[in-house]
Parts: sequence; structure tokens; C-alpha cells
Amino acid sequence: MEEERPRKRDRIIKGFSKLLKEDKLKAVSEYIENPGEFIALLKGFWYSDTEKQKQFDEFSENTISNFHIPYGVSPNVVINGKIYMVPMVIEESSVVAAASAAAKFWGDRGGFHAEVIDVQKVGQLHFCYKGDKEVLKNLMPEIETALRTSTKDITAKMEKRGGGILDIQLVDFTDKIPDYYQLRVTFNTGDAMGANFINSCLETFGHTLQDYFLRRGENVEIVMAILSNYTPNCRVKVWVECPVYDLDGVDEHLDGQGFAEKFKKAVDIAHIDEYRATTHNKGIYNGIDAVVIATGNDFRATEAAGHAYASRNGHYESLSTCEIKDGMFKFWLEVPIALGTVGGLTSLHPLAKESLELLGHPSAPELMTIAATMGLANNYAAVKSLTTKGIQQGHMKMHLANILNQLGATDEQKAAALVHFKDVTVTYAGVEEFLKTTNTK
Ligand code: MEV
Repeated sequence: MEEERPRKRDRIIKGFSKLLKEDKLKAVSEYIENPGEFIALLKGFWYSDTEKQKQFDEFSENTISNFHIPYGVSPNVVINGKIYMVPMVIEESSVVAAASAAAKFWGDRGGFHAEVIDVQKVGQLHFCYKGDKEVLKNLMPEIETALRTSTKDITAKMEKRGGGILDIQLVDFTDKIPDYYQLRVTFNTGDAMGANFINSCLETFGHTLQDYFLRRGENVEIVMAILSNYTPNCRVKVWVECPVYDLDGVDEHLDGQGFAEKFKKAVDIAHIDEYRATTHNKGIYNGIDAVVIATGNDFRATEAAGHAYASRNGHYESLSTCEIKDGMFKFWLEVPIALGTVGGLTSLHPLAKESLELLGHPSAPELMTIAATMGLANNYAAVKSLTTKGIQQGHMKMHLANILNQLGATDEQKAAALVHFKDVTVTYAGVEEFLKTTNTK
């Protein structure tokens, strides 16, 4: 009789984080039908260079293996007249191809144009104060001096690099939550993403504020101190433009004017309907996130900022806009992106370091223009496909390799399929059928 393997699924594991990596892997393998295969597979993704593997293990907690995502590049991306080879880390098959095609198209039409609007980051000290509101407001200049003095040690280095604390505002929320105020603090963090710098300043502010009121014989409750990922004033604008007649030939059925009008209609729809806006903006983040990840930055932070910004007018809408005026087609994206090119994972992850070198060691503002450009490039490519031949044809072509792998096709079958599906729409069932008819397997 087959022995039944113990399953841990219905039991709490105590002290898991303290186990050695090998033991963690073993414990996890008990959730799997074939633990031996599982352990071998996960170990197969470990680096043989133990130092390198240790570096990855230490990025996070409870690490048992590495999860690979393709690292691609989009060449010939022209931004403000400079040519970039842009690294993109993304698993979705058509994104890099779409970005590259859009980069080529717009490269022939003057390239992408970009302008960094501002680079301000924000942090908040949330606190409650039961005393007189007017007294608090009047004390603010003195409080601000105390706060700035208390963080001198932290800000000195940043100030040398041209950054530091820009502004401290008292925001009164007592009409919404009793006694609740916040200090909204604006920072310039130079080429660093600045999360640690901002949070250190804010936590020190918390102690300083508490001490300040204690000396007055009063109390403040510090609720929390943390940066805000909403950075509307760390914003970049990128755009493309060309005479409408330069769009002749983009669609086989419409002239340049017809294509431009249909394209603009699709973008306008994303301004009025949040269902479409969400997908439209997701297409933008296909490009932005790929660069953000490749350069070791935090894609959750940039997404959160972008989606909040997309709601700034009271409803969620497109981050990009299209205009046709005086015979010119203009398409732009304005988006907050807080990025760093020094510190954090940018210097720890070996591939992030290479990505930054590939880009010519950009400053943080320059990297903002590059990430936003890839967002606009992907957005243009997606909306162009949607308003012309549809998305599936190109998407499924790129997905063909995945389907073939999933169905276990041989190299000969793969080669034959590439030829067969050149002019045939790719579907899962179609590929399955094709493999049945080829006798090379
Ligand atoms: C797919 O990842 C992204 C698109 O859905 C974007 C869009 O609809 O604009 C194609």
C-alpha cells in the first residue's frame, strides 16, 4: 500500500523564518505532490556562485529560489535627440516588441520629447493635538526651526548633493478626525529615490515634536511618520508629434487624418470611462514598469502614484491625451514617477547596475523621462493596434512561442509553426491542431 505523505497545508508552521534555507525548501516541498522534483527544480534556479546567490537571498525574507523574468531591450529610443538602448524587464510577450516598433516609428518623426516638470517628494508626519488650533498655527515657525535643527545630521549630506527639506506645511484635518493634523513635508532627494532619507527625517520630526510640546507641558500623539507615494510634483511630461499627413499608411483603410481621429477618439474614451481608462493606463505601465524593474526601482510605488494622479480630477481617467490641431497630431503622457539612480537596489542588484550603465548612467530626472517614454511608446502601440487591426493578431504572434512550449512542440515543429502562422491567426486550438498534423514529433 502506498504510504500517505504528511501534508502541512492544514498546520501552522512555527519558527519557519529561522530555518536554514535547505530546511525551508524541504518544509515547503511537503505542499507539493512530488517534493523531490520540486526541490530539484527550485535548486536549478539557484546561482552556482554562492556569493551571488547569497546577495539575492538577502534581498528578502524566506527566500528559497529565484524567479526569472525576461530581460529585454528596446533599441533606438530617441528622447530629446539622444539615442537610448532601453532595458525592459517584463514577462508579457508583446510589450518589448510593441515598444520597439513605436520607438522606431517615432524615431523617424523627430523622436520623443520629454520635460521633467518637478522632482519634489513628499512625506507626512501624522499627529493628534488637543490644544488650541490657533496656538499650534502660531507656533509653526518655531516648530519648523526645531524640526530642521533636529535633522541637520541627516540632511547635511543630502544638502551637499543639492537636495534636502524644501518645505513643511501644517495641514488641519480636525473637521474629519478629531484633533488630527499632519505635517506635509516636501523633499528633494537628488538622484536617490529617497525613501530611507525621508522616513528618517520624519521619524526624527516625530520625536522632536513630542519633545517640543512636552517642554510646554502639553502632549501630542504621533500616529505615524512615513513618506507618501503620491508625488504629483515629481512629474514628467513626454510627447510625440507630427503632421497628420505623416500618419498616412499607418492604417491600411484610413488616411493619416482618419487614423488620427480614430486614435484620438480611443484616447478620449479613456478620459471619460474608468473601465477603459484602467486598461489604457495598464498599457502605459507595461512600458513604465518594465524600465522601473530593470533599473531596480519600486514599480508598486510608481503605479500607486500614477493611478492616484489619474484620479486627480475627481474621477479615474487616462494619463495620456491626444490632440489634433492645425494639421498636427500630438500625443502626450504626464505622469508622476519617483525614481532613483543611486542607492537601494539600483546599486545592489547586478542587473540593475548594468541597466543604468546601458542607459549611460542617467540622473534620476533623466530616468524619469526614459521610463515615461516607454509608457507612451507602449500606449501608442496598443491604441494604434486596437484602432487598426486589433490587438490579438500581434499579441498572439508573440505568444505563439509560449503556446508551442506549453504543448511540448519539438524544435522542428516550432520552426514549421513559425512559417505556418506567418499569415494565419494564432489561437491555442489552432496551434494544437497544427501540431497534430505535423508528424515530426
Ligand atoms: C495589454 O497588456 C495592454 C492593453 O490592453 C492596453 C490597452 O488596451 O490599451 C493592450
